Amino acid sequence: MAIQWYPGHMHKAKKAITERLKSVDMVIEVLDARLPASSENPLLAKLSADKPKLKILNKQDLADAERTETWLAEFQSRANTNAIALDASDRSAAAKMIEACRKLVPHRKGIDKPLRVLICGIPNVGKSTLINGMLGKKSAKTGNEPGITKAEQRLFLADDFWLYDTPGMLWPKIIVEESGYNLAASGAVGRNALDEEVVALELLDYLRRHYLPQLQARYQADKDASSHWRDDEWLEWIGKKRGALLPGGRINHQKAAENTLTDFRDGQIGRITLETPHQWEIWLKKARQN
Ligand code: G4P
Repeated sequence: MAIQWYPGHMHKAKKAITERLKSVDMVIEVLDARLPASSENPLLAKLSADKPKLKILNKQDLADAERTETWLAEFQSRANTNAIALDASDRSAAAKMIEACRKLVPHRKGIDKPLRVLICGIPNVGKSTLINGMLGKKSAKTGNEPGITKAEQRLFLADDFWLYDTPGMLWPKIIVEESGYNLAASGAVGRNALDEEVVALELLDYLRRHYLPQLQARYQADKDASSHWRDDEWLEWIGKKRGALLPGGRINHQKAAENTLTDFRDGQIGRITLETPHQWEIWLKKARQN
């Protein structure tokens, strides 16, 4: 799939992250709980290899709760890594995040230094919403330290906990074909970089194989008949149900695709996660063989 790549932005982000990493104790990576592996950034993993890491599976309200548990266990099994699931409505998000970080970097006896944490995430994982929610009514303060640009904010969540927001954009890196589709379905990849009909068909292919009851319920499809439908037959049906019609009553496939993607992004089809650790492993293996 043709996803646009932004080496210029990436280079800038890489430089800024490398610089900031020198003076933080650990790194938080915000992920989209519906696509935890696809929304991870391998560059960040490489740059911050020696730092403790907290993975936040955000938007858990939209994700499959059982699969979120599986992903949390997978991340927690990695060295020096903790993981929690959150969503924008969680009033205790800041407390949970600080507690999870403290588990990784406990207070050292007799040392009163604040915990310095860099928070990163590819676009659309909900990092800004999460930070704003955690700051509450307090406005984000900008640190006056030399070397901190205006765009790189130091956010005071507690006296002994300093959060640094990543300067610049951390773009996703598409390692396997499936992650391109999953990022596109989630809305992380801009509309101009993808063909919505292709993305919707890929999404429907996954949903009919892994979330058939939710699909049937959302679009009131006959259980027996629709259990054998192909992706394009599902798109036709959704177009019909959502009134995506051209003059003469034919289905407007572009509109039907947009409707499908909007319904998925808004959680209208149900709580869905587009990848499991096991599936990810298989996709990676396949990508390495090609
Ligand atoms: P970013 O900084 O990582 O780029 O993401 P941002 O906070 O801008 O969030 C991207 C979209 O995801 C926003 O929706 C935001 O409302 C939504 N979002 C963030 N966190 C959560 C969450 O935990 N649960 C759910 N369901 N949605 C979340 P948008 O449609 O782009 O904008 P908006 O008009 O809704 O704000």
